[in-house]
Amino acid sequence: MRTQVGIVGAGPAGLLLSHLLHREGIESVVLEMRSRAYIEKRVRAGVLEHGTVETLRAAGVGERLSREGLIHQGIELRFGGRRHRIAFEELVPGRAITVYGQQEVVKDLVAARLASGGDIRFEVDDVALTAIDSERPSVKFRAAGERESIECDFIAGCDGFHGVSRDAIPAGARTHFEREYPFAWLGILARVAPSADELIYAYGDRGFALHSMRSPEVSRFYLQVGADAQLESWPDDRIWAELRARLETVPGFSLAAGPILEKNITAMRSFVVEPMQFGRLYLAGDAAHIVPPTGAKGLNLAVADVRVLTRALADWYARGDASGLAQYSATCLRRVWRAQHFSYWMTTLLHPFDSDDAYARRLQLSQLEYVVSSRAAATSLAENYVGWEP
Ligand code: APR
Ligand code: PHB
Repeated sequence: MRTQVGIVGAGPAGLLLSHLLHREGIESVVLEMRSRAYIEKRVRAGVLEHGTVETLRAAGVGERLSREGLIHQGIELRFGGRRHRIAFEELVPGRAITVYGQQEVVKDLVAARLASGGDIRFEVDDVALTAIDSERPSVKFRAAGERESIECDFIAGCDGFHGVSRDAIPAGARTHFEREYPFAWLGILARVAPSADELIYAYGDRGFALHSMRSPEVSRFYLQVGADAQLESWPDDRIWAELRARLETVPGFSLAAGPILEKNITAMRSFVVEPMQFGRLYLAGDAAHIVPPTGAKGLNLAVADVRVLTRALADWYARGDASGLAQYSATCLRRVWRAQHFSYWMTTLLHPFDSDDAYARRLQLSQLEYVVSSRAAATSLAENYVGWEP
């Protein structure tokens, strides 16, 4: 079998790439190791930058997003017993964020692909990339017990941080840049109305907490926990008690609790591979870079990579113009490194580290005070948060 672009992974990156390529008249096959039900249920982040929303709308997959997405014009930083609003409408007029779950984006993209006859193979295993430095790379895999192979013009590695695509690049031809943080996030989804209209990023001695949401009926919360924390040690009442202790720190705020629908623990890591391409293999999304979720950049970076890759492939197929492909990694990495810095900065600003001494805590507080009292500093946070365009 053959196709033009073989895509490994049906996360937001792989699915959006397949959809955008289809709109350019380029065919692809998507290979995903999980089931459709699994990828549509997997709860992940949920903050879309303005540019991400525009991309999804322009691609014809923004209809439910426009109806159900919650537009936010600001976020709150909560520390020292006070609330401080970062007002996007004043600092970065015309640019807001939309809160819409990543798995909703995935559902919309799967539906759009299948409606236009797209080829997504779920539950494949043993995916292996071969001859990526030739003009006829191929993807080998097993589906329903049978070995299969698809010959491609190009391969897109969209298989997330734990995928196989990145390792197909010879070790000597790639460099990894990495940071691990000495804590994790415990995330919950709860059937309860949000206790505030906007996201709350709360810093305090007990650790960081985040109040987010998915809809007027469903809230999302995160707690900074130890890097080795286990869900078994976090029964529901301990989670609510800790969320209250970290969020009910300003006058007049009380946190509403409700049934917990979902719990998970996410490691906090920063990672970049350079370059994001080798031969005819192009990496996009988490396969190439990971950010800690504090800046809400992961999904937005995946969408940005895919925009660049679609343009480059479209130029190649339409006119034999290979310049976009040659520049793919360098183009993506400019945005990637800005988001790396922002995510690292938000993470180190808002999480007390166990290794911190009193001096380090004072520096965090000073920086927080600066961000909420200087228009320049607040604008810097705001323009990165809504999406900085290089
Ligand atoms: N073969 C086939 N599919 C694979 C393989 C493999 N060897 N390994 C992983 N996959 C699949 C995963 O099951 C997943 O569905 O690749 C997909 C990768 O999707 P994501 O992890 O969602 O990555 P990406 O599409 O780059 O989206 C980035 O996801 O992790 C979040 O915060 C991150 O929001 C960001 C977004
Ligand atoms: C979320 O709603 O899941 C969310 C929001 C903001 C973040 C991270 C995650 O920074």
